Amino acid sequence: MENKKNILIDCDPGIDDAVAIALAIAHRDQLNICGITSVAGNQTQERVTGNALKLTVFLGAEEIPVAMGAKTPLLREIVPAGDIHGKGGLGYCELPAVEKTLASDNAVCFLREKIMALPAEEKMTLVPTGPLTNIGLLLKVFPEVKERIDQIVLMGGAAVGGNVTATAEFNIWEDPEAAQMVYTSGIPIVMCGLDVTMACGLNREQVAALGRSNGRVQKAYSEMLNFYFDSPAYRNSDRVSIHDAATIMYLLHPEYFSGQWMSAMVDCSEGVNRGMTICDSRANQEEAYETGEKNVLVLQQVDQENFQRVLLEALTQFDA
Ligand code: BDR
Ligand code: CA
Repeated sequence: MENKKNILIDCDPGIDDAVAIALAIAHRDQLNICGITSVAGNQTQERVTGNALKLTVFLGAEEIPVAMGAKTPLLREIVPAGDIHGKGGLGYCELPAVEKTLASDNAVCFLREKIMALPAEEKMTLVPTGPLTNIGLLLKVFPEVKERIDQIVLMGGAAVGGNVTATAEFNIWEDPEAAQMVYTSGIPIVMCGLDVTMACGLNREQVAALGRSNGRVQKAYSEMLNFYFDSPAYRNSDRVSIHDAATIMYLLHPEYFSGQWMSAMVDCSEGVNRGMTICDSRANQEEAYETGEKNVLVLQQVDQENFQRVLLEALTQFDA
């Protein structure tokens, strides 16, 4: 397929990050994955970086370069989500050790290099699925990259509600200051926040079916996803949300989603709403987008059936 989208995935794998990576790798006919960068979030920098390296090899994409990113959020220490993603970050799954080494131990410089190396007529799409530390730094330290970024399709935030606190979503709550740099950068952002990602998931039977298969990739992903079902967030639920996969699914099938252009900013105060994304839908939609006022497309609905179908087909395809 011509006109592949150039993407850079910035992530903290993390179970749903691992699913997003698999979905992207399964669609390399449509996506040119220029690199994967890690950021401390679901687990420590060391663990999520190790997972990114292992995942590329496990999924047969050893050639995708991996660079190590921020060890902590801009202002605070990391608060890992071991209860949701496990000690290693990938639930009950332990991927084989790999020889593969890092392409760089400086994700911010790596991102800049990859973006600026594109031919003049091409642009980069950034796909952050973790705290926005690396991306915030990139835009501040190397503002020249902004012109070469087509859009940022991120998992983070919510127009309504939260999952770490009543009003804050995990990725934004971990590093609100970095998120604010990204949201107010003026770059078009597609926000796959909780408003839509809560509906992007698989049910128990679908995950069980992955486990019953003989395929090594399907088995590994069932080991990851089964951990979710034992976690406090999903213990009593028939379905797990696979938040981060919404980003890649949107790139592959924007027609499965709908939303509204808004302006957004992040609460960086020390109050109860720290990490909240404040999404403002007032004013005329098209006009506001044209004037650059409303740069955030807040996704609100998803075609759940097609989401599940494409996701399961992707995971199955590795074992075919
Ligand atoms: C987000 O938080 C992380 O735990 C997940 O990987 C996802 O990126 C959902 O709030
Ligand atoms: Ca994540």
